[in-house]
Amino acid sequence: QIERKVAALMKQMTVTEKVGQLHQLSGRQFTGPTSSNYADKLADIRSGKVGSMLNVTGVADTREIQALALQSRLKIPLLFSLDVIHGFRTVFPVPLGESASWDMEAIELSAHIAAREAAAAGIHWTFAPMVDVARDPRWGRVMEGAGEDTYLGSKIATARVHGFQGKQLGATDSVMATAKHFAAYGAAVAGRDYNAVDMSEQQLFEVYLPPFKAAADAGAATFMNSFNTLNGIPATGNAFLQRDILKGAWKYKGFVVSDWGSVREMVPHGYAADLADAAVKAINAGSDMDMEGYAYSKHLEEAVKSGKVKMATLDDAVRRILYKKFELGLFDDPYRYADAAREKAVLNDPSHRAAALDVAQKSMVLLKNENKLLPLSREAKRIAVIGPLADAQRDLEGGWVVQGDRAKVVSILEGIRSHAGKAEVSYAQACASPCASSEGFADAVAAAAKADVIVLAVGETWDLSGEAKSRTDISLPGRQEELFAALKATGKPVAVVMLAGRPLVFNTIADRADAILYAWFPGSEGGNAVANVLFGEYNPSGKLPITFPRSVGQIPISYAQYNTGRPVTDEKNVVYKSAYIDSVNTPRYAFGHGLSYTDFKYSGITLNGDQLSFDIANTGKVAGTEIVQLYLRDMVSSVVRPLKELKGFQKIALKPGEQRRVSFTVDRELLSFFNSKLKWGAEAGEFKLMVGSASDDIRLETTYTLK
Ligand code: IFM
Repeated sequence: QIERKVAALMKQMTVTEKVGQLHQLSGRQFTGPTSSNYADKLADIRSGKVGSMLNVTGVADTREIQALALQSRLKIPLLFSLDVIHGFRTVFPVPLGESASWDMEAIELSAHIAAREAAAAGIHWTFAPMVDVARDPRWGRVMEGAGEDTYLGSKIATARVHGFQGKQLGATDSVMATAKHFAAYGAAVAGRDYNAVDMSEQQLFEVYLPPFKAAADAGAATFMNSFNTLNGIPATGNAFLQRDILKGAWKYKGFVVSDWGSVREMVPHGYAADLADAAVKAINAGSDMDMEGYAYSKHLEEAVKSGKVKMATLDDAVRRILYKKFELGLFDDPYRYADAAREKAVLNDPSHRAAALDVAQKSMVLLKNENKLLPLSREAKRIAVIGPLADAQRDLEGGWVVQGDRAKVVSILEGIRSHAGKAEVSYAQACASPCASSEGFADAVAAAAKADVIVLAVGETWDLSGEAKSRTDISLPGRQEELFAALKATGKPVAVVMLAGRPLVFNTIADRADAILYAWFPGSEGGNAVANVLFGEYNPSGKLPITFPRSVGQIPISYAQYNTGRPVTDEKNVVYKSAYIDSVNTPRYAFGHGLSYTDFKYSGITLNGDQLSFDIANTGKVAGTEIVQLYLRDMVSSVVRPLKELKGFQKIALKPGEQRRVSFTVDRELLSFFNSKLKWGAEAGEFKLMVGSASDDIRLETTYTLK
């Protein structure tokens, strides 16, 4: 039925109006380099030359702009889109942080609440989830994704798409999702944002594309292409990616939006001669909507007239976009997402804060806990809370915050104060971010000397990760490690709470801190979440979704590495081995690592047919949740396989003394990979199955033979 409505509308459209549907402009806020005059944009909307606006938010503003579109000849409503990445009013942990929860229900709920709030504020469409696999923490955008792993990333992609889009597109508590950035943007050379990507098709198919496929299968309404070239061809002009794979092999029915200006950027790439050429190359390659590129608006009509772009190609792009507008119900009521009463009620729904607290707690990763310093006792202890980020609010939110209520962000200090019970809490900032000066260290040390335990809050500020925030040095900024050393010299135990949007390098702290809690950018409820974990009201269960290197020199680094012909078996004897002469190969903290306040024992592995089973028991004194991880190695195959690949995980909550039997099904799908002809399938032979608490903490293993 929608098809018929779209066809009827398209019959009435001029080529100018069709091109208009493919033109997306930004409101007054910019999330890219340049933009044209705002008044001209409004005039273009009135004359039906714009299909969508990004960066316009709120019922009042979206209503005002939609009203202009309804003055156009065919009254085709606009789509309002926005980067709703980890919450809207209620700020959830940054996506990399949430991914550390490995909790698909919590992640789906977080996306759903973000969608509910955004949809109540006039938004139809979010530019999320970012499903780029990323193995280089220099790249600032690792913060926006699910980390380094294809399997975990695919599950999270599915959860996020389901969360944003709800049960059905068009429900006013949901928004359209965007799987971005298609494709391989996360593999930018040297971690420099927007840089070229060069990779084998094998890697592309096996590591980088599956989360996109998962998002498409989950029904993601749109895809966004990417700024990078892939093996010499800009993703935006890449017919192999967009036509052959996405719209061809995957039969994708949604539409593809370019990234900001990525159509026009094919000129500086050296792939298009000029803007007109860029327009032709982008649409022919399958880019349907041009975000702030002005290539389609200026040149597409002429390209259709001259035959460089077929009318059928233009029509296909228009059809895909109009279909979504009908699906959202915008032709029935262009203002159905813009209801002031709903906006007020939804943006103040207290259940959203409870969900943000829940997922923030689940996201925290306990990296280290010597002598069980944590959880802290609340019995008449003196706690010195110190550090540049201890009382920060903005830094708890992270990047891409839309309408967050900053005044209501709970700082770490505030969280500790309100959870400390009888303990006495003192505070010293020691230095302001980025901790360039040590002037305040002496006061902080004096405060620390009077305390029984020190909680040191350090990390990256929110603006050091995200788009265009690549760093060559990912160590803890400024003199924060010096501050740690000065505090440690008091002899008091130090629990470090670290905020960041990426893995950081902090070797002094890693070696000498008593406890380290990686809190990412935990969102509006961050301080409460940190305090709950520190005081043991919440037993941490997060596991790293990305490897933490010891130094920038180890990057790119992933647990899913290959053995090489000269593997290191003994770190002491590395001559003529695949090793460094100045560092061990192992990371500081491995993918999947994360401690608990209790202990888990794995035992009794069996393999019955395709059922792999084992027991997991909580052998400690408190309840806890373990994320059990299943890894696989195909021992001999026609294409060399990684030493370990994550193939399954389960979150198991256990009371003290409780034991549970856990099972995974080992089917052909799980054993399959892309062979050198890019054919998906499993090969006969032996497979090592490994079960453990982290990629470097395998507790049980067995062999599976495929006949
Ligand atoms: O959605 C983003 C994208 O991820 C990076 N460039 C700008 C877009 C729109 O804000």
